[in-house]
Amino acid sequence: MIDNLHLGGGRDVIVACDFASAEETLGFLARFGDERPFVKIGMELYYAAGPDIVRQLKARGHRVFLDLKLHDIPNTVKKAMRVLSGLGADIVNLHAAGTRAMMEAALEGLTRQDGSRPLLIAVTQLTSTDQESLEKELLIPRPMDEVVIAYAKNAAAAGLDGVVCSPLEAGKVHQACGAGFLTVTPGVRFADGEKGDQKRVTTPGKARELGSDFIVVGRPITAAPDPVAAWHRCKGEFQ
Ligand code: C5P
Repeated sequence: MIDNLHLGGGRDVIVACDFASAEETLGFLARFGDERPFVKIGMELYYAAGPDIVRQLKARGHRVFLDLKLHDIPNTVKKAMRVLSGLGADIVNLHAAGTRAMMEAALEGLTRQDGSRPLLIAVTQLTSTDQESLEKELLIPRPMDEVVIAYAKNAAAAGLDGVVCSPLEAGKVHQACGAGFLTVTPGVRFADGEKGDQKRVTTPGKARELGSDFIVVGRPITAAPDPVAAWHRCKGEFQ
């Protein structure tokens, strides 16, 4: 059984808690009172605060996407996933580039004795990789969207639950891998907001139209003068 029944069964906004400490994160989340946003913990916070931050946020009732993007030999990833599974995260991820053998090993490691497991999604190609670096550095002489779809299909064939991709690719991923295959998409900005360092951005409403299941939103919420109001606005536009 996959631990997705409590994901709410529909689309949602995941708040990227890109903070440098547990204190800063808990202080930020305290502003939400009794509300419990779905949160993303990335490498910075995890490496600074340790696995306990996942347990703490779960104990407070948050759903947690643990964004650590594993990529290593299958046996190492399997054993690391076994540890992450015990933390109670709702979604974890890895790089599809690790191959099908690594993704299958990851699923094995994540599956608990009772058969339950967190959702497992794959990064296809990072949005920081462009066509030129794909060809000249990674030596993949194919159009980026073809590579993204091929990696998504490989992830689906390995039994994964979805991918992290651009909202602009969400429709193609669903066409290739099925409507139930999750698309979790960063690169979201309000129509009247700052882009920051994100290049290809869409609004929450556009991401919904394009078929994103979950949008990952950081600075438009965390750096807003009123993060709670920004979160409500984002949910309203996306749902
Ligand atoms: O602040 P912002 O909304 O740009 O945050 C987006 C979040 O999604 C960050 O945590 C970033 O690391 C993550 N992310 C991304 N693009 C990817 C994968 C992850 O922006 N391709």
